[in-house]
Amino acid sequence: MNTSLVSKIPVIAIDGPTASGKGTVAQRVALALGFHYLDSGALYRLVGLVSFQKGIKTSDEAQLIPLAKELDVIFQEDRIILAGEDASDAIRTEAMGLRASEVAIHPGVREALLTRQHNFRSAPGLVADGRDMGSVVFPDAKTKVYLTASVEARAERRYKQLIAKGISANMEVLLQDLRERDARDSGRSHSPLQAVSGSHYLDTTNLTVDQAVRQVLDWYQDSH
Ligand code: C5P
Repeated sequence: MNTSLVSKIPVIAIDGPTASGKGTVAQRVALALGFHYLDSGALYRLVGLVSFQKGIKTSDEAQLIPLAKELDVIFQEDRIILAGEDASDAIRTEAMGLRASEVAIHPGVREALLTRQHNFRSAPGLVADGRDMGSVVFPDAKTKVYLTASVEARAERRYKQLIAKGISANMEVLLQDLRERDARDSGRSHSPLQAVSGSHYLDTTNLTVDQAVRQVLDWYQDSH
């Protein structure tokens, strides 16, 4: 499809810190509108996982770039298939989240993942979730949302998710991890996490998922 047609395909960009619930909200919004969904964090997690498997350090940008460019990944409904194997659970661990935030500081890695992210933009529309969706990847997004919640609420949500999966978790450690990841994501010089101008600020600390989804859908309708 030519560029001018692609630029007509609406994008809803949802950015925010880790464990803010933006993934759940973004998926629900996509479902309600029949739009495609991009979980951009999964791409950074995959680079974290593959580099780990290959013994490449997260500081080694030169080796990470080709790996990011050549990621053999297929997004299938709610599963992520890496080189023919289901990697959906392997990328969700706290350790891979941390590695993802370490590989994500390199501009070359971010650049290498750009085209792949743009390719998710197809009719009838896309809901993209990440840190730089509204600022860098889809600056022309129709609706931009900065979705957040207090660090305590986010740690509690992450805690419940882990326990529900049968993974043991410790609140203090989780709080510490979230704070570290927030600092790294907001403090890096390339594509830091930030609320871009024109974005709607949504604090979900005291909202249900339904309320948050409703609010994003309302903003999207208002943008027409
Ligand atoms: O959203 P999620 O927790 O899966 O993202 C993992 C890490 O990937 C984030 O902490 C962040 O460092 C990085 N990331 C990013 N840009 C994005 C999405 C994720 O830098 N668009």
